Amino acid sequence: MQIDIISCVPALLESPFSHSILQRAQHKGIVQVHVHDLRDYAINKHGQVDDYAFGGGAGMVLMIEPIARCIEDLKSERDYDEIIYMSPDGELLNQKIANRFSLLKNIIILCGHYKGVDERVREHLITREISIGDYVLSGGELAAAVLADSIIRLVPGVLSNETSALSDSFQDDLVAPPVYTRPAEFNDWQVPDVLLSGNQRLIDEWREEQSVVRTQQRRPDLLDEDSSTS
Ligand code: ADE
Repeated sequence: MQIDIISCVPALLESPFSHSILQRAQHKGIVQVHVHDLRDYAINKHGQVDDYAFGGGAGMVLMIEPIARCIEDLKSERDYDEIIYMSPDGELLNQKIANRFSLLKNIIILCGHYKGVDERVREHLITREISIGDYVLSGGELAAAVLADSIIRLVPGVLSNETSALSDSFQDDLVAPPVYTRPAEFNDWQVPDVLLSGNQRLIDEWREEQSVVRTQQRRPDLLDEDSSTS
């Protein structure tokens, strides 16, 4: 899978892909992440990629020309399944969306900045709009990193034990059960006996039960069939 991220502040995306699971996924050759500096497609030698909004008002707007040229450049190299714009008014990211995106071959993620992008970008160049939550970030870069992370860890072969992604919270509309490690006792606080029993059937049953109880307590909305999006 190839993920191309377009940003006018590419430095914001250096660290998230240079460590841990996301770095390993790239080293294994399973996923390629390329960050493209929108300023390489600026309209003039001053690196201009934004301008004042027609009609006035505070804040700059990312111009369509640099974005269109960058996307054209990328599309001349390969076909893209989705061209995603990160925006607080987009479709709310959830595990089902991440699962679906993880099956795609090539995607572009466009990060907004300042007041956003010229609306014609959204109308004519973008195929999906994704939000990571009902709050406004300074730009789409951190949101793009969240989206890419949620996708990459699901691509087959990225996690060494593939079942560990399947047992994540939300995979089956349940949150994950609690986990413990050594020591078995700390300050009189005990690890549940069943986890030390060595009986895998009982342990699996306990984990399932805990998932359901936790979901009822913490995220009852996930158990409401109508609320789940497929
Ligand atoms: N850009 C700014 N805020 C955002 C959000 N909540 N989700 C996605 N992109 C954003």
